[in-house]
Amino acid sequence: MDRTHLDLAPCGPLRGVLRVPGDKSVTHRGLMLLALAEGEGRLFYPLKAGDTLSTAWVLRALGAGIEEEGPHFRVRGQGLRLKEPEDVLDCGNAGTLMRLILGILAGQEGVFAVLTGDSSLRRRPMGRVVEPLRAMGAQVDGREGGKRAPLGVRGAPLRGIRYTLPVPSAQVKSALLLAGLFAEGVTEVEEPVPTRDHTERLFRHFGLPLRVEGNRIRTEKASPFPAKDLLVPGDFSSAAFFLVAALIVPGSEVVVEGVGLNPTRTGLLQVLLAMGADLEWRVLEGEDGEPVGYVRARYSPLKGVSVDPGLIPLMVDEVPILAAAAAWAEGETFIPNLSELRVKESDRVRAIAHNLRALGVEVEEGPDWLRIRGGGVRRGEVEPFHDHRIAMAFAVAGLPVGVRVHEPEWAEISYPGFFRDLLGLCGGS
Ligand code: S3P
Repeated sequence: MDRTHLDLAPCGPLRGVLRVPGDKSVTHRGLMLLALAEGEGRLFYPLKAGDTLSTAWVLRALGAGIEEEGPHFRVRGQGLRLKEPEDVLDCGNAGTLMRLILGILAGQEGVFAVLTGDSSLRRRPMGRVVEPLRAMGAQVDGREGGKRAPLGVRGAPLRGIRYTLPVPSAQVKSALLLAGLFAEGVTEVEEPVPTRDHTERLFRHFGLPLRVEGNRIRTEKASPFPAKDLLVPGDFSSAAFFLVAALIVPGSEVVVEGVGLNPTRTGLLQVLLAMGADLEWRVLEGEDGEPVGYVRARYSPLKGVSVDPGLIPLMVDEVPILAAAAAWAEGETFIPNLSELRVKESDRVRAIAHNLRALGVEVEEGPDWLRIRGGGVRRGEVEPFHDHRIAMAFAVAGLPVGVRVHEPEWAEISYPGFFRDLLGLCGGS
């Protein structure tokens, strides 16, 4: 079968104000917690894209009622006790779904479920959640002894554990906190470096047990809790593509409104500032526990930097678009601490190096680092490697000179309408 592609002409100055689709991490978690709640609640402006539609589908199979209401979702909770699914649960491309739902299913006594996903998800490491869940008493098995999906889980009585995360992963932390809602005693997760804290904020929103002391997060067995409406902010990770596009196309000025500015997500802003970016942002409201505001970006000549390794967990999904900015910066950019990027939807270290070279950029790839020699790109063809963020980041990297994007439909995993919005700004007044 012929592969699809999209040819983007060189883009003139990007100008305009835009809102991006709802936050993917908050939508997954909001749907899951509303499914576990009593009664009906609405999720306002959620992300409706490949990944989160997989979550809605899986939760329906577990007994929750999820209906679309215009741009929103109305969720009828099934309560803390989910229904045994009649068939295999397909998590599609969504790692967050598979890991978090495993935490929930582990504590559903007597319920048997099988989780699978697409070829990318079946390659991704699941041992990082399966092992600590087993220590809590979970009965999970799968390929390679439970390291890869398909995974089978039979809900069992759980007991709380204390666990120090060996890798900085909000998905592992969240899976254990969710399992902790069904476990006897206290479940404590210690994270050596901070990762996104949406689960903690949502536990507070729904009045679930939570104590945070420094880098230790504790929960315990939940009692039935009522549903509560929730507003989903715009996804900072989606906004990042437009911010960098504005920074690299001369004459641009773009404002993204209504975007989540949770400090555990916005490490990219610090790095771009250090590169000389003309950026301005402000938190305007704290909607349902998440800070929300706007970011303005104006075209700026950028310079290369050496990125602080401690910032990477706070911008883990923005490294591809940072690489696009680095390609247009003057001088060298060094990005360390990238081992987690090797196990994302694609091997992102490799995918970034491949696409930079395809655009004529000199790049050196280490086991967990990239060194990018900036100075601009030439016209070329970019390859998403079945990865939404790679498709969008390299469409942006090639924007000033024009670029061919293969399989652009991968963007729909987290941003349906991405290319329409991008082209809309290119033609903006
Ligand atoms: C996510 C956490 C991150 C991130 C992913 C979403 C989440 O993954 O890359 O896109 O919603 O918790 P890790 O926890 O594996 O770092």
